[in-house]
Amino acid sequence: MSLADTQTPADPPESDGPKYPFHITREEERRLRLQGAKAAPSLVIGQASSFDEYARQLMIPPAVMDLARKAENLRLSAWEVEAMRKHLAPATAPGDKVGLLREILVEKYKHDQTHPPYIRVACTGRGDFDYLATQSGHLDPDEHHPKGDIGSPVVLEIWPAQHYSPIHSHGQTTGIVFCLAGQLDVMVYEHLDWNAPKQGLLTLTPGQCAWLSRDNYAVHRVYCPMDGGGGTTGPGYMNASSDFGASFHVYLNPGETAVESSDSASHSRDAFNYIGEDDKRQHSFATESDLSWSVLRRVLAGTPLT
Ligand SMILES: [Fe+2]
Repeated sequence: MSLADTQTPADPPESDGPKYPFHITREEERRLRLQGAKAAPSLVIGQASSFDEYARQLMIPPAVMDLARKAENLRLSAWEVEAMRKHLAPATAPGDKVGLLREILVEKYKHDQTHPPYIRVACTGRGDFDYLATQSGHLDPDEHHPKGDIGSPVVLEIWPAQHYSPIHSHGQTTGIVFCLAGQLDVMVYEHLDWNAPKQGLLTLTPGQCAWLSRDNYAVHRVYCPMDGGGGTTGPGYMNASSDFGASFHVYLNPGETAVESSDSASHSRDAFNYIGEDDKRQHSFATESDLSWSVLRRVLAGTPLT
């Protein structure tokens, strides 16, 4: 059985007990959603429709508001979303050729099964799997694609349904997570530890924006709660669906915001720390991207949608 052909369900979770990815019960989820909705400063940036909501957004740092305002009209077009679905679709029969995004998911799955994979697309610079676009025949082999860059300040993330990230910290960066397509759950933690208290759970839909800074909401886990096409998510899971969520991320290093702060290189966007899903200890990952937007957009534009 090829990984590209079907999903590989994880071990069954405890019934009624905490489940992947957040390891919380239904009652805890209800409480954390309420807690998230009442958090101050607000976890989400949007047009306030009540005085309370307005007051909770007052203490969001100006540098964050500036990023959010600049992103507020960003949307993926209908054809971009449809072409992404085509490239994420699992094979319908063994041996069928899959699209570029599914191919990258399978490559990432081979190297790390501690959590289901997602795809980082660098909006500037290069991605690790850019070469697959030519190798798999999506683009003409007119360019040599070296290994991807790290630390792109602007990233598109593609979250296959039921896939999730580890708990990770964005260190001392200031940034936004702006939902472009589908649906994304974000759990915010007090600090970077497997057992860290959870500050709140929120669901982002297109046009909604979460944020983070050195002092607020820097540690989170992201999950796409859409229909994965069967199986139960967890380590070793790969979905059997083309549904996905997409988010646009910006990370500014301390020296790049208007606010003066520490300029420690170890806290820049070149590397973020995370908690390993298997050993529950802290590790660091270089923020390499899987693809570059310039390559992906050319592939999407050349994708027949009929
Ligand atoms: Fe993140």
